[in-house]
Amino acid sequence: MENILVRGGKALSGVVEIGGSKNDALAILVGAILVPGVSVLHNIPANTDILNLLNIFRQMGVRAHFATPTTLELDASALSTSETPHDLVRQMRASFNLLGALMARFGHAEVAMPGGCNIGARPVNFHIEGLRQLGGEFTLEHGVYYGRVDRFLGANINLEFPSAGTTQHLMIAATLAMGTTTIENCAAEPEVINLAEFLNACGAKIRGAGTPIIEIEGVKTLRPTEFAILPDRMQAGTYAIASAISGGDVFLKRAVYEHCRPLFSKMLDAGIQIDAETEGVRVRRSANTIQPIDFKTMPHPGFPTDMQPILATMLTIGDGTSVITETIYENRFRYTMELAKMGADIRISGRNAIITGVKRLSGAPVVSPDLRGGAALVIAGLIAEGVTEVSDLRHIDRGYENLVLNLQNLGADIKRLPVKEGSKPCSV
Ligand code: EPU
Repeated sequence: MENILVRGGKALSGVVEIGGSKNDALAILVGAILVPGVSVLHNIPANTDILNLLNIFRQMGVRAHFATPTTLELDASALSTSETPHDLVRQMRASFNLLGALMARFGHAEVAMPGGCNIGARPVNFHIEGLRQLGGEFTLEHGVYYGRVDRFLGANINLEFPSAGTTQHLMIAATLAMGTTTIENCAAEPEVINLAEFLNACGAKIRGAGTPIIEIEGVKTLRPTEFAILPDRMQAGTYAIASAISGGDVFLKRAVYEHCRPLFSKMLDAGIQIDAETEGVRVRRSANTIQPIDFKTMPHPGFPTDMQPILATMLTIGDGTSVITETIYENRFRYTMELAKMGADIRISGRNAIITGVKRLSGAPVVSPDLRGGAALVIAGLIAEGVTEVSDLRHIDRGYENLVLNLQNLGADIKRLPVKEGSKPCSV
């Protein structure tokens, strides 16, 4: 086990290259198991969620081989079972989309209820209801879903909420369905659009991705393709805030301004300078103060819930009071208890966090409660006086493959160290 130790006070500067998007890669990898032959996928990030999904695949007969550190050759021809390894599946959320994908391929599937970050209830009712409308039949026994279908049949599905995972899951399932499927009130994230583009490059017929209505005309088979995963907008946002909070000047190479617009427009309001350039985005803060701002998390193109803890951290040293409303996950303020140990003034009232800016944070031992909350604590450490020790890095490693190295290259005083024998992380 390791902890991250960061000594605050260095203004970051330089270039950080934004890696492939975890959430895009996970969705596309699941889509790729519908494709017979070798799919070549570029820009795959080597975080533990991806490695875990590839482990699941390998145990099911899929051949997965990294031709370069970021290019994966995936051959799903030899996929030999529709039963997923339950223990591995339970460790992550995105593996649940295997249910529809395996049913599309084999007519049956067995997938455990998913895990992922502890940020809210995160049920799967929209997924199951949508697959039922496509003709699937399900039983749930001992935490495992068993699904059956002859062949999915096109249907009109109106989602109760524009869920990213459900939209991706249903798109994958409907790709090989008989007839046309319409998904209304669907999610419009860049990762939804890129999944549609990947499936279309394999021969699927999907229109409307990125709008609230997606239409999928079922096809009989898919063919392999070569395709690139998007740069990770959440990593880009994390380094953008790291630059801004430290009073730095950082170029986010390969970041796509448009994908980060909801975050960047709030950062502009706070007085941060952000410039779109040909190969990425430059983020700097020359002003002494950070203006307080209010924001509310919403489905895309609203403000992304994943960036809520990250932006909140910058506001802890803002010049006044900011109010955040979290509408997506009821349990996504756990990191604020840890920030409070560092001197942040944050009051939680239901779905709101009221942050009153303080002059400085002070380093303390803190525990990473989830993926983005953990990254937020590392960022807080960049400006805290003294040393911040962030423990329980499992979640951070699920979504950031090179966080410490990248921050070191930008000039941060940060390292990973093995946990001393006998010391235990305090619980959150
Ligand atoms: N929801 C339901 N029932 C469902 C599905 C979702 O009630 O069947 C609810 C959720 O509980 C939540 C809301 O709908 O309140 C939105 O959830 P959504 O389905 O959009 O989220 P997801 O697909 O499970 C993905 C990302 C999350 C990100 C959310 C929201 C992946 C693997 N995960 O989750 O990413 O927070 O979309 O944008 O793509 C992260 O990367 O840190 C992360 C948690």
